[in-house]
Formats: sequence, structure tokens, C-alpha cells
Amino acid sequence: MKHSTYFLTFSVLVMVFNVVKGQPLVPALFIFGDSVVDAGNNNNLYTFIKSNFPPYGRDFKNHMPTGRFCNGKLATDFTAENLGFTTYPPAYLNLQVKGQNLLNGANFASGASGFYGPTAKLYRAIPLDQQLEHYKECQNILVGVTGQSNASTIISDAIYLVSAGSSDFVQNYYINPLLYKVYTADQFSDIVMQDYIVFIQNLYALGARKIGVTTLPPLGCLPTAITLFGSRSNECVERLNTDAVNFNNKLNITSQNLQISLSNLTLAVLDIYQPLHNLVTKPAENGFFEARKACCGSGLIETSILCNKDSIGTCANASEYVFWDSFHPSEAANKVLADGLLLSGISLIS
Ligand SMILES: *[C@@H]1O[C@H](CO)[C@@H](O)[C@H](O)[C@H]1NC(C)=O
Ligand SMILES: *[C@@H]1O[C@H](CO)[C@@H](O)[C@H](O)[C@H]1NC(C)=O
Ligand SMILES: *[C@@H]1O[C@H](CO)[C@@H](O)[C@H](O)[C@H]1NC(C)=O
Ligand SMILES: *[C@@H]1O[C@H](CO)[C@@H](O)[C@H](O)[C@H]1NC(C)=O
Repeated sequence: MKHSTYFLTFSVLVMVFNVVKGQPLVPALFIFGDSVVDAGNNNNLYTFIKSNFPPYGRDFKNHMPTGRFCNGKLATDFTAENLGFTTYPPAYLNLQVKGQNLLNGANFASGASGFYGPTAKLYRAIPLDQQLEHYKECQNILVGVTGQSNASTIISDAIYLVSAGSSDFVQNYYINPLLYKVYTADQFSDIVMQDYIVFIQNLYALGARKIGVTTLPPLGCLPTAITLFGSRSNECVERLNTDAVNFNNKLNITSQNLQISLSNLTLAVLDIYQPLHNLVTKPAENGFFEARKACCGSGLIETSILCNKDSIGTCANASEYVFWDSFHPSEAANKVLADGLLLSGISLIS
């Protein structure tokens, strides 16, 4: 399964687009959102949502923790490779020098951020509107480095990937009585959807024309959700999965409407719900051994600072685990997700 998906992706790219390493299909890749795609922007923030210490990064280049919430590469790292890039978009806030190194894109994502502004504030993470401010600054630098005309081409031809919403639910709505006592999950989804619309409109106003937005994952299958809301059962929490499916349907319809109302915009909804659900419910068929517990620590609750070198029970080989920590997929799972992203995001490169 793993191999056939890979083969399909590979064949599509080679045959249709003739992708060559070092000659990327698009000039740049810009990334916004939450911890699923953060490559280190939280490292120097006053927040406890961080991952720039072992065992994070133990399977990454040079076994280096970078601030990625993973043992190795993120799905977006694989996407960058699949598009022909030889480097990953750097974490914008981590760069000492900002110049030529932004020509192939940048990463503005921040762990614990969401479409709903207050979520990031709860954790002192970077809200999406602030991420857009950083992107504006980045655009000005690009103009300085390569001139207005080249910069405009980079900006309009680049792919923009957005991953958000999980933190709005798991790190805010479900644990925040000020929200869950006031709004049903459906009503909260509508509020988040309004913030999503504003974000896409603002990104479009800054010149983005090719945007891919990931769906919510099966929230009820995250190890942390099973631990907190699973009433001692070892199964995915159906209530949370239903909320995610409902949200994803709204996301799909809203995105189709945005694409109609904003001319020349390609807005692809990239489904990660189904591929991750498949991995979780049929791990063995997909080459995985463990899909309930995460690799780090007990696998039940550890993420961010709770997943550290003193965590007891951390697994030896994360490539057999769907989840690296209680909130985030392993590199091996990210590889599978990235192949799916590429197939559902074909409209962004054709
Ligand atoms: C714009 O891009 C072209 C082609 O890559 C390059 O030759 C040229 O030097 C760039 N312009 C500036 C001002 O950097
Ligand atoms: C849409 O694309 C066409 C053709 O490239 C261009 O002339 C037009 O100005 C674009 N419209 C907007 C709103 O970007
Ligand atoms: C979005 O809806 C279309 C049909 O309206 C469907 O074909 C597609 O699979 C949906 N995408 C996702 C990610 O749910
Ligand atoms: C880890 O597990 C994978 C998949 O089962 C296997 O291919 C690999 O050889 C293992 N690595 C080590 C170091 O045992």
C-alpha cells in the first residue's frame, strides 16, 4: 500500500510534470499554521509549546531537533522534496539573516496556533494574522533581493500551504468551558470558518493565487484525545471524529465558494482525514505496528515539553508508529500523508 501510493505519486510527477531535483515545479513554498507544519518558529517564543530538544528530531538530518514536532520530517518537508526543492522553507523567525534564503519560500507556522485568534493567544503562539504580518515583511525583503518584477512572479506562482484548526478544537474548544458551555461544536465550527474566510481573503490580497489547505485529521484518534476523552476505551473517540468530518465538509464548501469569488485563485482542500484514519484503523496493512499509543514516553499524553529525553518508555523505532507524540504523526506517517497531499493538490501545479 505504502509503496503503491508512492509509486503512483512518483509516476504522476515524472510523467506529467517531469520533476527534476533542483528544478522545482514552482518558485517557492510558503507555509502557515500550527504545530503540524511548524519548523521551529516557536523556539524563541515565551511558550511551552516547543520541541527543539531531544528526542524530537532524532531521525532528522544530523539527528538535530529543529523545533519540528516530529522525530523526523514533516509532511510539508516531503512535499517540498516532491516538488523538486533541495531545501525546506526555513522557519522565518529563526533566521539570523533574511535575504536570498527566502527566495524559495519560508515557514511562518507556530505550534498551538489556529484559525480562531484566541487559541494562539492562550499559548503565546503566533496567531495567523501575525503570521501574515511576517509574510508581508518577507515580501518586502524579496523585492529588495530580486526586484519588484521577480518578486511578483515568486509571490503569484508560489504554493501556499495552510494547516490549522486542530488546536482550535483539541487545545481550546474541548477543554475550555467558556467555549464548550456556550457553543455546540457545530456553532464553534461556524465561528472558526469565518476566521478561515478572512485569512484566505487576506492571503489572496497579498498576492497568493495557489493555496492548499489541509482538512482536520480524525481528532478522536489522536492519542491525546483517546486519553482525555476516550472514557477508558482504547478506540477512537467517535464524537470528536464526527466533529472533524462536519468541520471538513464546511471547509470544503466554504473553499469552493472562496475559489469562485476570488478570481484566479486555486484553493485546494487537501484531505488528511481519510489517509490518517486508514493508517489508524488498518495499521498493519500500511506497514505500521502501533496506531493507538505514540512513540514518545508512555504514548498517552506526552507532547511538547512533556516529551523530552527523560520521558520513560519512548519507543526504539518510530517508523513502526503512526504517532510520534500524543498529538503529531511520525515521519513514517507524514510520508504517507504527503503522498496523499500531492495527489489531492495536483490542481496547484497543473
Ligand atoms: C530576476 O530574475 C532573473 C532570472 O532569474 C535574473 O537574471 C535577474 O538578475 C533577476 N533580477 C534581479 C533584480 O535580481
Ligand atoms: C486574473 O488573471 C488575468 C490573466 O492573467 C489577469 O489579466 C487579471 O488581472 C487577473 N485578475 C486578478 C484579480 O488577479
Ligand atoms: C469536497 O467536495 C467534493 C464534491 O463537492 C468532493 O468530490 C471532494 O472529495 C470533497 N473533498 C474533501 C476533501 O472532502
Ligand atoms: C524500523 O522499522 C522499520 C519498519 O518496520 C524497518 O524497516 C527498519 O529496519 C527498522 N529500523 C531499525 C533501526 O530497526
